[in-house]
Amino acid sequence: MKKLLTAAVAALIAWGAAAQTTAGLDPLLQNVYARNTQSLNGYWRYVVDRIEVGYYDYRHQPVENGFFVEPQVDNVRTWKEYDFDTSPVMPVPGDWNTFDERLSLYDGAMWFRRKFVYRPQQGERTFLYFGAVNYDAKVFVNGRFAGEHEGGFTPFNFDVTELMRPGENTVMVMADSQLSPRTVPVDNYDWCNYGGILRDVMLVTVPQDFIRTYKFELQRGTRDRIRVEVKLDKALAGQEVTVGIPELKVNRSAVTDADGVAAFEVKASPELWSPENPRLYEVTVAAGADRVSDRIGFRTVETRGRDILLNGKEIFLKGICIHDEAAFRDGRIYSAEECRTLLGWAKELGCNFVRLAHYPHNELMVREAERMGLLVWDEIPVYWTIDFSSDESLANARNQLDEMMERDMNRANVIIWSVANETPHSSERDAFLSSLARYAKSKDASRLVSMAMEKSPKSPTVFSVKDNMNEYVDVISVNQYTGWYGEHIDVIDRVSWEIDYDKPIVMSEVGAEALAGYHSEEMKIWSEEYQAEFYRKTLKMIDERMPKLAGITPWILKDFRSTRRVMPVYQEGYNRKGLVSERGERKEAFRVLQQWYKDK
Ligand code: GCU
Repeated sequence: MKKLLTAAVAALIAWGAAAQTTAGLDPLLQNVYARNTQSLNGYWRYVVDRIEVGYYDYRHQPVENGFFVEPQVDNVRTWKEYDFDTSPVMPVPGDWNTFDERLSLYDGAMWFRRKFVYRPQQGERTFLYFGAVNYDAKVFVNGRFAGEHEGGFTPFNFDVTELMRPGENTVMVMADSQLSPRTVPVDNYDWCNYGGILRDVMLVTVPQDFIRTYKFELQRGTRDRIRVEVKLDKALAGQEVTVGIPELKVNRSAVTDADGVAAFEVKASPELWSPENPRLYEVTVAAGADRVSDRIGFRTVETRGRDILLNGKEIFLKGICIHDEAAFRDGRIYSAEECRTLLGWAKELGCNFVRLAHYPHNELMVREAERMGLLVWDEIPVYWTIDFSSDESLANARNQLDEMMERDMNRANVIIWSVANETPHSSERDAFLSSLARYAKSKDASRLVSMAMEKSPKSPTVFSVKDNMNEYVDVISVNQYTGWYGEHIDVIDRVSWEIDYDKPIVMSEVGAEALAGYHSEEMKIWSEEYQAEFYRKTLKMIDERMPKLAGITPWILKDFRSTRRVMPVYQEGYNRKGLVSERGERKEAFRVLQQWYKDK
């Protein structure tokens, strides 16, 4: 009888959890850093749970009293096999791989617990916000399921108002970094799948009725009209919304429609944001008891034939690819200062553009790049061999695209939304990617859509970019490694390109590896000299034997940890296509590209 009862309760829990998994996830709160928050960063207790005994019983059914429930023990008669109070602590945000050498290659579930004191304010709502958890997060507050999120690089939040209590509260997170053939990305990648609560965690307190999102942009085709759209959390009509841009003498009110949306235009002629003049304006939005401020730039971006126009003028994107990995310590980036280190190297290189590969980076990275005058390519991890036949994978990819766009919608420096990287051709892949590209375009007509594709040979020495997806993108982007993978760099001298789309073309990846400090007179492979010669030949090919490009983002700024890269001596778990080593050493190729950008 007891087993029957347990199974029935477990089934109920499972049904409830499953039902709540989708119900728990609330639409994203925008610009949490400017809201009324209580940080939950700091030291969290953790328990490694490789076979998820904290969530499933021995029949692999969800348990009623898993690790998410603090055991009521009397230390004499009550059986339990976990105790957070005597478990170790780990800093959040952070990844376990670089926190503890024993966890360097760990891919699995880990429980995190944080206790905190909370004083509910009458008539307010409280959201629990995570900047990112890789890869799947099941979240519990005071032993009750708050919701689940899948996707390792985008923010999410749950309305936990009803789960909180005055005084001490407990948040539990089951973070699971395991990828599979059905996840996005799949368990086939060229980086380190850092696991954990990777970005800021905070409680966000808002009035009962609050501002969910807002968007400010130059009205298309104008320089003296700003289009404003403010969306309240509830579909409340007739609510007054007020926006202010003091430096532009804008102070305008409007009322919401039946959807809780107020969309209107204000007359103003802002100084335009550009890499040379990254001008931002203090903006405020108020509705009822809620008030949010932000710093927003205004610019236009469009294409004309093979050119990308920023503020109506042709721009060449002097770019570089960057992974979300800190210099000098590896691990995911979680501070603005660490963003500035990498972005400072990009500026030193002469860049006006960064491709934040292959997934949405920390919001702080996008905001620091905006402040420093670096344009951004924002990308979701539809990387290589996704299960393109799976509706779940498409829904997951689209949710991550939505979350990335919602988060960065007001960042003037974001000019390209990328929906994929190097995906194998098939009819399922074409349906999957065209759906994402169309969705991105429909959600935001003010930016360009692209995806990194691969070269297609017209002959052994003439390359093109033949891809059904080229009709769905605004910018044709191609990754190519001619002269590296399996070829001598002399092959580059014999290669030319024919790309016959009347759209801007960006070389979204190109690179070769070098071990910093390894020098070879004979220019042996893996030496800095070999990598530098690779760049000299490639840049010469671009100048002399390619159609006009709108930009390049060589692969990559900094050597980065990759589970794929196991060559003794030269790689040792790092992909060494960086122009800078993980210790900050500029390689010879850095100067080659820097000079080319200077001469551009
Ligand atoms: C691919 C891929 C990168 C990878 C790079 C490489 O183009 O997009 O993620 O790191 O090549 O081979 O180094």
